[in-house]
Amino acid sequence: MRVLSGIQPSGDLHLGNYFGSIKPNLDLQKGDSFFFIADLHALTTIQDAEVLRGMRNNIILDYLACGFDPSKSIIYEQSKIPEHTELMWILSTVTPMGLLERAVSYKDKVAKGIDANVGLFTYPVLMAADILLYQANKVPVGKDQKQHVEIARDIAAKFNNTYGKDIFTLPEPVIKEEVAVVPGTDGQKMSKSYKNYISLFGTEAQIKKQVMSIVTDSKGQTDPKDPESSPIFALHKLFISDAESKELAQRYKDGISYGDAKKELLAACMDFLRPLHEKRASLTQKDAEEVLKKGAQKAKKVATQTMEAVRKAVGLA
Ligand code: ADP
Ligand code: TRP
Repeated sequence: MRVLSGIQPSGDLHLGNYFGSIKPNLDLQKGDSFFFIADLHALTTIQDAEVLRGMRNNIILDYLACGFDPSKSIIYEQSKIPEHTELMWILSTVTPMGLLERAVSYKDKVAKGIDANVGLFTYPVLMAADILLYQANKVPVGKDQKQHVEIARDIAAKFNNTYGKDIFTLPEPVIKEEVAVVPGTDGQKMSKSYKNYISLFGTEAQIKKQVMSIVTDSKGQTDPKDPESSPIFALHKLFISDAESKELAQRYKDGISYGDAKKELLAACMDFLRPLHEKRASLTQKDAEEVLKKGAQKAKKVATQTMEAVRKAVGLA
């Protein structure tokens, strides 16, 4: 089994990213997992060199602080391995237009009136190249990325069919249903684009402000509350055991005030985040560069092997 996943360096990491993507990846980290920073994908939305550079520098420190371990994972930047873009081109020549036209994430962006560039449209083909280049079979992602992994699988099958060979492993998404969608402070999906997020590496004051801003209904202080419809409860559950969350649910039904519920959520959240913040403060940019350099060397070896087979299969070698 080979696990691979990527994340875009495109903003502050939040609890949705941690529980939807980072944690499932950490849980599957072993021996030769691949984990990369999707900086080429980020170019579809960040078009300011200073901003992108800053985000790339930050995100690797964030990841290492979260527990990505270079002795268990190959950690690298997508843009350092040119084979990603070479493979993307070759895959795009077997990708039906209709497959990309059906991509929900693209359609949503167009519906929101974003002036889409070609990169945004062909984004799933680059993502397919990211995955297929390393013959990954398990791709842990949040629910919103599931379709992209399915597209990668379809492209792999189309390529294998077209060239009559089993060149590519067919990948599958790995989704943790219980945290499939982490709600934000407004009850919608937590997302940096909705500005409804709770930061992983914000200061305690910022995180407090974010937690205190979670929307509540108009129930009185001691009225019974419905845990299942409260984003405070949904977020708190992420930090505690099943038994503890049963007890907490009962206290909502018994009439805990939303103010107290938020204070308890903040305490649980900070207990969880503090060690990550400490680890991050102990890391230097030099440590990060070292990890990325070694990661790129290892990734390059696998990428080179796959591309040799691909070039042969299509007649370019
Ligand atoms: P954002 O929505 O903040 O822009 P990204 O699209 O960059 O986040 O997502 C990065 C990863 O984190 C993806 O695998 C995505 O599925 C996961 N993710 C993001 N937000 C959530 C959420 N609210 N719940 C679960 N997973 C999420
Ligand atoms: N599209 C993913 C996201 O926005 C990031 C990504 C790029 C990715 N390539 C990937 C995730 C390959 C998994 C596998 O979150």
